[in-house]
Amino acid sequence: MLEQINSTTASIREKTNNFNPQVGIILGTGLGGLVKEITVEHVIPYNEIPNFPVSTVEGHSGKLIFGKLGGKNVMAMQGRFHYYEGYNMKQITFPVRVMKALGIHTLIVSNASGGMNPEFEVGEIMIINDHINLFPDNPLIGKNSNEMGPRFVDMSEAYKKSYIDLAKKIAQENKIRVKEGVYAGLTGPCFETPAEYRYLWRIGADAVGMSTVPEVIVAKHSGINCFGISIVTDLGIEGVVQNVSHEEVQQVANAQEPKLTFIVKELIARI
Ligand code: HPA
Repeated sequence: MLEQINSTTASIREKTNNFNPQVGIILGTGLGGLVKEITVEHVIPYNEIPNFPVSTVEGHSGKLIFGKLGGKNVMAMQGRFHYYEGYNMKQITFPVRVMKALGIHTLIVSNASGGMNPEFEVGEIMIINDHINLFPDNPLIGKNSNEMGPRFVDMSEAYKKSYIDLAKKIAQENKIRVKEGVYAGLTGPCFETPAEYRYLWRIGADAVGMSTVPEVIVAKHSGINCFGISIVTDLGIEGVVQNVSHEEVQQVANAQEPKLTFIVKELIARI
């Protein structure tokens, strides 16, 4: 894998004139609009990046974007890879390894989720303060490369507390309603049954989705600080479990995206 990372990194450096990103961003479903705020310097479609998988889901267009946001050098993944697409954990998280090799110290992940917390409303912006890995797998399984990170990874602060506090402060200063909570990551692609939502709430999750957890595990393994933010696009609250479609998820995420974008941009400016 080290060889693959090196060849992908070399190809990206060549295509971007040795761009040095400080912050990596992974944009989830319906959240690609953040890209409009980036002063773009380079764009590379995934199919032109050696060793990169190609995204297959509608709403995930599949490009790496390099430029300036909040005064910092950022690289953003417009479109991510999901376990339910058939990729393995190492493929899903390969871009995080590449971002690390290119020099990022912070990773910002966004996603759309279903909310179980009864205080949540549709469109709620939830700052992720922790996660529960419910994937039947972990990207760190297998031989460990000590060059890349430790065998046993500390996850006591998977989402950096000071970033969470700063994001809450930014939201408060700008009168943006945000909540904080635990994100459970599982495979999908089915949305949850009412019994599954009930189970997720009981084990301590506030929202559920099909991404983010593998990427954050690999980021932590690589020594990268993480910040996660989710748009709760539908509710799985006991007694209020609604019918949900990918189109609705996209619509709600799109509608809330400017607020999320504002928080992320300000956060980047201040870290
Ligand atoms: N479950 C899983 N992923 C999701 C959901 C959900 O309810 N909503 C948006 N992404």
